[in-house]
Amino acid sequence: MRHALVFYFEAMKEVDVLIRRARGVEDYQTIVELEKQVWGYTDFADLAAVPILMIANRFGGAVLVAEDPSQRLIGFSMANLGWTPQRKLFWWSHMTAVVPEYQNRGVGLRLKRRQREEALAAEIDEIHWTFDPLQALNAHFNLHKLGVIVRQYEENVYGYSSSRLHHGLPTDRFVAEWRLRTDRMKSPENKQVLLEIPKDFNELRRNDLAGAKAWQDRVRDACQRYFEDGYVITDFVEGHYVLEKE
Ligand SMILES: CC(C)(COP(=O)(O)OP(=O)(O)OC[C@H]1O[C@@H](n2cnc3c(N)ncnc32)[C@H](O)[C@@H]1OP(=O)(O)O)[C@@H](O)C(=O)NCCC(=O)NCCS
Repeated sequence: MRHALVFYFEAMKEVDVLIRRARGVEDYQTIVELEKQVWGYTDFADLAAVPILMIANRFGGAVLVAEDPSQRLIGFSMANLGWTPQRKLFWWSHMTAVVPEYQNRGVGLRLKRRQREEALAAEIDEIHWTFDPLQALNAHFNLHKLGVIVRQYEENVYGYSSSRLHHGLPTDRFVAEWRLRTDRMKSPENKQVLLEIPKDFNELRRNDLAGAKAWQDRVRDACQRYFEDGYVITDFVEGHYVLEKE
């Protein structure tokens, strides 16, 4: 019964969109407009521009788009091919976005699932990307829904960007590692550490920038210390990161 209800709820939330590979310049131009719309970038230097999208899509990576029934592009995901430091081929997923009016209706998950299929078809079994450690919704989406792990913290990766979402704070990021063939590590006998983050960091950043900065410093210090000590983030539950020894 519970399953039936969950299924019913998911079906209600779901929207009629088509996920497909980007096909050419027109798609890339629309994606650049989506980047501006979703992140609010005003500086060209922050954008993944048309040639970059084309190169990613044609030479070993994938640019995917979500199209609504009127053929409007309402989301995209872009990944390019790279080497890990261990000289293993992997995909670096630079951007995934869904326009605000379609968010939280399953489109992002479908884009990531299709990205996984495309990667496996290209014999890639690992996809990495960055996300802001203080964004609870992204943490939930990446760690709890997709099942990535996190063991790297990078400081101010993209510099101070023009995005209104960033509010002039350093762009500190986690590196998400999505292992496509293995289930997420689960080791109940390991000692777990829980690390809390604010419920709504965006609101805090708008109303109390110093408080937001203090949270960022605290989470940065804790993560750097635990990662150095061999801990990995394996989940995000009720507003807390779950850290376990690898
Ligand atoms: C992150 C993002 C791509 C997810 O796409 P989506 O279509 O909203 O995701 P889905 O509907 O498939 O999944 C939603 C889940 O993710 C969470 N989520 C993550 N970001 C969210 C957001 N900005 N708004 C609403 N829900 C979000 C929800 O809590 C939801 O969990 P639930 O199904 O358990 O309730 C999209 O919200 C987005 O474009 N956000 C802004 C840009 C961004 O942060 N991109 C990722 C960093 S590159």
